Amino acid sequence: MKNESIALGSDHGGYALKQEIKKYLDAQGIAYKDYGCYDEKSCDYPVYAKAVAKAIVDGECDKGVLICGTGIGISITANKVKGIRAALCHDTFSAQATREHNDANILAMGARVVGPGLALKIVETFLNTEFSQDERHINRIRQME
Ligand code: RB5
Repeated sequence: MKNESIALGSDHGGYALKQEIKKYLDAQGIAYKDYGCYDEKSCDYPVYAKAVAKAIVDGECDKGVLICGTGIGISITANKVKGIRAALCHDTFSAQATREHNDANILAMGARVVGPGLALKIVETFLNTEFSQDERHINRIRQME
């Protein structure tokens, strides 16, 4: 992957998986910033979805990873921010396809849906797959926006 920095965010349901992802990113030498939450106390996923989405649209980070219990609430919220294309993926095929076709800039996952082994493979796939630059896909993203 290019020299990118990753914005991380989770609620309490995604906190433990986020810690695993941080270990993976450290091992790969990939820079990241954690926008919270910072412990397993019950909290509200929209706060962290918005912080990560803002970090990306403001250019502080290049891509993001958001985790809640299901990945649903946190991805719905992130997608309300203009310029964000958050993809909820629980398999590597979708993670690859959403980078190639949708140029997704946030990967969302549910920590109550996938185990850490698969989750790390999904992160790896998402971060290492480039947008196809295919005219069809560029045109569809334009329509989306
Ligand atoms: C929190 O209990 C849970 O609702 C949240 O993590 C997420 O799954 C929402 O979509």
